[in-house]
Amino acid sequence: MAVQPETATSSNIEEIEIKLLLEGVCMRYGYDFREYALAPLRRSITAGMAGEGVPTISAYQERLLHDEACMKRFLGGVGVNVTSMFREAEALRCFREEVIPRLRTYPSIRIWIAGCATGEEVYSIAIVLEEEGLYDRSRIYATDLNEESLAIARTGAYPLERIRADEGAYARSGGAGSISDFYTIARHSARFQHELQRNVTWARHNLVSDGSFNEFHVIFCDNVLIYFKPALQERAHRLFYDSLIRSGYLAIGQGESLIFCSESSRYKQARDGVNLFQKVQ
Ligand SMILES: C[S@@+](CC[C@H](N)C(=O)[O-])C[C@H]1O[C@@H](n2cnc3c(N)ncnc32)[C@H](O)[C@@H]1O
Repeated sequence: MAVQPETATSSNIEEIEIKLLLEGVCMRYGYDFREYALAPLRRSITAGMAGEGVPTISAYQERLLHDEACMKRFLGGVGVNVTSMFREAEALRCFREEVIPRLRTYPSIRIWIAGCATGEEVYSIAIVLEEEGLYDRSRIYATDLNEESLAIARTGAYPLERIRADEGAYARSGGAGSISDFYTIARHSARFQHELQRNVTWARHNLVSDGSFNEFHVIFCDNVLIYFKPALQERAHRLFYDSLIRSGYLAIGQGESLIFCSESSRYKQARDGVNLFQKVQ
């Protein structure tokens, strides 16, 4: 049967251009964004075009295919690496109050932070573990699709003003001291103590195409699923379910859910209104 041509409106021509761009990126670089939600994709493509000074999506596609530096910038935009410390403060409070007491019963603890962006979330969780006296027996696997973000994460240095602005979130997460207990100030940067990443392994991992690599007591994947279409959310949830030990915990962002998780009935919410779930079967 012949494929019916679509009626040409400017919005579906744009959709065709976006699809072609994503196909091209996938064929050229192996990064598959075809199952990402359209609205945020469209926003990052528009922002990327403005940054590169290209007038059309097709021209952007051509630039991306020929210019690897342009592709690196695209990766930063399409993945939306916006983040901050103690961003999911209520979930981290719940983590301190409900999960930490259980983690104390294990001799060693494995934690996966998927989509960790530039690392602020990793240092936040490391601080909680340190304050609760569990850091020494923990190993944190911090992963992201974007190597450039991981390179920033490894430095552990951030603009001081930004970190100072997160003190309120730290307090809301149940912190009794100050984030500044864990960094030194160099010029206008907050540089986290190197000790805080002694048990952190940073690695590239793509939730679209990579598999499980360990069994974890806790998985944090905050503010990543929101960029995925339902089928891709389902894939990521399957990966998390398969990567958790029985009675392990999954934390996802406040704007996310288990709606597209086939194993949702096998989780129990740790606390009403908080997106922290315990695997119960
Ligand atoms: C909005 S940031 C969230 C950062 C942090 N988890 C937080 O909640 O603040 C989304 C991150 O997901 C990453 N990401 C997007 N697609 C990904 C994929 N397929 N696999 C792994 N990470 C991905 C991006 O590179 C980006 O760093």
